[in-house]
Amino acid sequence: METEVIVVGGGIAGMAFAERMTALKGGGGVRILMLSKAPVEASNSYLAQGGVAAVVLPEDSVEEHVQDTLTVGAGRCDERVVRMIVERGPKAIARLLAAGARFDADREGRLQLAREGGHSQARVVHYRDTTGAEIVRVLRDRVKAGPMIEVAGHQYVMDLITDGAGAARRCIGVRTVDGRTGEVQDHYAAAVVLATGGLGQIYRHTTNPMAATGDGIAMAIRANVPLRDMAFIQFHPTALYDDESGPTFLISEAVRGAGARLLRPDGGRLMEGVHPKGDLAPRNVVAREIQRAILRSGHPHVWLDTAPIGVQEFAKRFPNIANVCGRKGIVAGRDRIPVMPAAHYSCGGILTNDHGETALPGLFALGECASSGLHGADRLASNSLLEALVMPARAAEVLVSRPLGPPLHGIGRQGMFLRMDLEDERAAWLRKEMQELMTGKAGILRMTDGLKEARRDLRAMADECERALAQEHLAWAWAELRSMVQVAEAIVDSALSQTTNAGTHWCEDLAQGVLS
Ligand code: SIN
Repeated sequence: METEVIVVGGGIAGMAFAERMTALKGGGGVRILMLSKAPVEASNSYLAQGGVAAVVLPEDSVEEHVQDTLTVGAGRCDERVVRMIVERGPKAIARLLAAGARFDADREGRLQLAREGGHSQARVVHYRDTTGAEIVRVLRDRVKAGPMIEVAGHQYVMDLITDGAGAARRCIGVRTVDGRTGEVQDHYAAAVVLATGGLGQIYRHTTNPMAATGDGIAMAIRANVPLRDMAFIQFHPTALYDDESGPTFLISEAVRGAGARLLRPDGGRLMEGVHPKGDLAPRNVVAREIQRAILRSGHPHVWLDTAPIGVQEFAKRFPNIANVCGRKGIVAGRDRIPVMPAAHYSCGGILTNDHGETALPGLFALGECASSGLHGADRLASNSLLEALVMPARAAEVLVSRPLGPPLHGIGRQGMFLRMDLEDERAAWLRKEMQELMTGKAGILRMTDGLKEARRDLRAMADECERALAQEHLAWAWAELRSMVQVAEAIVDSALSQTTNAGTHWCEDLAQGVLS
């Protein structure tokens, strides 16, 4: 039987879609091919610590969750989408519980909820500090049991395949390269779902894994599929300080929710007098304050004082964080943890409607690579896992109600092979240059001139990628770098198009009214 739906990405959004689609078809009935380049353990989904924001207690309300989301999103959310997703949160949690998810609860079975930045209530459903891994465990079992779901690993999706022109143009498949053999293949389906996750690797420090290179967004750019809000990159305020560039360990915001406090390098309270919510102010406010403290002091990090939590409570509530800190000689719950902001989440992405459909017929986008309208200019903490559960269910509901029909073609072998060694010295050097450029000029504190310089330098990098791909056209290192540079350009262009500061976009000269 031929593939009807291709899912690109093996994280929570992709799995939640495949699971719902299968369940809605009564356990089968639609053949789904899931393609992923990295094991799920190397995904943002798996690493998610905090949890799922959802209204599950009678003292909370949909209205409050909606208002918190809109406030943090700084006027840029689509309120209709926010309401729809928030309303569906309790059902998403109930489904996971029914499927065996072990969320933290008290002896009476009442869910224990955490408080995170921007929330007016404790409403984050979690499993210790490894909630993503717990949801992955449940969904992976479901996906494995799906008789018509095929999961193919080591598959790097290079591009979307489209057919037709103008209004008749549609997405009919994807071109992949097998990470083990380098063989290039075309796969066709009636619908393609991008669930490729984040893009944190575009910056020097990120809480994202190595695979988070913005692939889905880059494919959309090359296929002329509209994006939205790419300027809005959320920096998590408290990543564990690491001098080296690359992925860095997250100290969950729930740690501040449990009582930890941010301290300046000189030991004073960082957030005192800065925002009414103090240490639990929206992430963009906290990240900017930390960045300013770092710049002012010349010290590369600030401190997170964990003593208010206590060693025992910390180990019980955050065992994973306690372990990682322990390996660095830090006693969590007693000591101060050195922390710094790191690129964490792309609030914008591929523009979709309220069921994940993009402007290109046949193409859906779900999870972090999409811009559904939920996040606006900044994302409320733990709303991302909520979106990654609700929007795939919405997309599945819509897709099962449509006759999918057979794909246009079967698998097509291209007779091409790509060099998969990632050791190209020049590409690796350029990648670091781009990360430095984006961190310095398009990071937490931006300046219009800096953004313009970044745009010029990125163009030169994009040209070099094209030249390298033309000469050495079969090298993955250059293909991946080209994608990252294209996504970086989209971020910078979007940042330059902003006329006001909102959420995570902060241009110092706009703030001072120079460019009003
Ligand atoms: C955290 O645990 O601080 C991260 C949760 C999120 O990004 O929503």
